[in-house]
Amino acid sequence: MPIDKKVLKERREQSIKPKTVKLLVEQIAHELYNHNLYRTFANYFAVKGLHKLEQYYVSRANEEITHHQWIVDRLNYADVRYKYPEVPAVDAVIDDEESTFVQTVDKEIETTLLIYKIVEAAEQEKDWETVKWLQDTLVDEQTEEEHISRKFLKIARQDTDWVTKEDYILSEYESGDDPEEA
Ligand SMILES: [Fe+2]
Ligand SMILES: [Fe+2]
Repeated sequence: MPIDKKVLKERREQSIKPKTVKLLVEQIAHELYNHNLYRTFANYFAVKGLHKLEQYYVSRANEEITHHQWIVDRLNYADVRYKYPEVPAVDAVIDDEESTFVQTVDKEIETTLLIYKIVEAAEQEKDWETVKWLQDTLVDEQTEEEHISRKFLKIARQDTDWVTKEDYILSEYESGDDPEEA
């Protein structure tokens, strides 16, 4: 079948279309913001002397660097040229230990919804490669990210001391024996 010349010309340059590109570049900023937010929580726990929760949030922050790297790799693979977006300053208010866990759940829900928007854009642009790639990477990852965030919020709300809670949270996170976790 004859291929539209415009389609050929565009796709010789890059294989992801503009709306999806725009949202993917914005998602780089969101993932890096999440990293900075979790590092801020890590600082809060470091100062409190709850070093296992410091370690937990450092690890969660490192996962965000990985998510951002997935997008970077995908854009490079598709020959998309872009500039790194601005990342806003962290604006979280930390009232107490539990509030970091609530904010983590909310941030992961927000992240899931942002990623769904990228899937929708890719579907609209009939970019089935990116739809599949999103499902396999960021969408799949959000299942885990939301699950562990809700799970540890429940622990944070248990009626016991924080040294006991931090022990449980870090060891559960690091064991990663949940079938949904990766
Ligand atoms: Fe993320
Ligand atoms: Fe993860």
